[in-house]
Amino acid sequence: MQKNDSKIIVALDYADINEAKDLVEKLTPDLCKLKVGKEMFTRFGPDFVKELCKANFDVFLDLKFHDIPNTVAKACEAANDLGVWMMNVHAQGGMRMMESAKEALTNANSQAQLIAVTVLTSMDKSDLSVLGISQDPSELAQSLAQLTYDAGLDGIVCSAKEAVQMRSKFDDSFSLVTPGIRPAGSASDDQRRIMTPVDAIKAGSSYLVIGRPITKSDDPVGVLMTINSEISDL
Ligand code: C5P
Repeated sequence: MQKNDSKIIVALDYADINEAKDLVEKLTPDLCKLKVGKEMFTRFGPDFVKELCKANFDVFLDLKFHDIPNTVAKACEAANDLGVWMMNVHAQGGMRMMESAKEALTNANSQAQLIAVTVLTSMDKSDLSVLGISQDPSELAQSLAQLTYDAGLDGIVCSAKEAVQMRSKFDDSFSLVTPGIRPAGSASDDQRRIMTPVDAIKAGSSYLVIGRPITKSDDPVGVLMTINSEISDL
C-alpha cells in the first residue's frame, strides 16, 4: 500500500487528548487517515490538528461549517491553513455558501477536499416536517447531493446504505464518505444502519469512517491491517 492510500478514516472521538495521542502513536499514515470532529476541536483546538498533519496523517476536519457564504469561505481558508486533507460544510447552507467555500480553497491553491453533509442521519421524516420540509430524508439527501455536485464540491458524507444510489448518479471522482461501518462480528454500538467495510466499498464508498471498532480495540493496528487487506483488491 502506498503512503496515505488507505480508505479508512479513523474517527478520533476522545475527551482526553492523551488517550487520542496514545492511539495515534500506534498508527502510521499508510494505515489510515484521521478524523477530528467538534468535540476534540473544541477541547484541544487547532494545535492538535496541526500536530497530526505534521506527523504526515491525512486529516479530515469534520466541523460541518454552516453560516453565511463569506464566513464559511473564511473558515475553510483557515482549515486549509492548518494543512488538512479534507473538510466539510452543511449542504443545507445552500449553493452560494458552497460555491464561496470552494472558490476560497481554489484561490488558496488548496489541494484539500471539500465535501458536504446532506441530511444528518439523526433526522427522520417527522424532524424534517417540524422544519417545514415535506420530503423524506432520503429524497432530500439526493437533492442536496446534486446541489453539492453542481456547486463543484468533491463529495458528500452519506450512509453506505445510500451509496449505490448515489454512485448511480455520480462518478468515482465524487467522494462518498461513509460512517456507520462495522467489521463483521463487531458491536454495532449506537449505530443503527451498519455495513461491513467490504460491502460498503462494493456499494461505492470512497472512504470509510470507523471509530470505536478501532479506537476501543486492544489491537487497533491489527484491526486496520485486516480491513485494509480485505478491501485492497476491491
Ligand atoms: O464509533 P463509530 O464508528 O460509530 O464512529 C463514527 C463516527 O462517524 C463518529 O465520529 C460520528 O460522529 C461520525 N458520524 C456518524 N454518522 C453520521 C455522520 C458522522 O456516525 N451520519
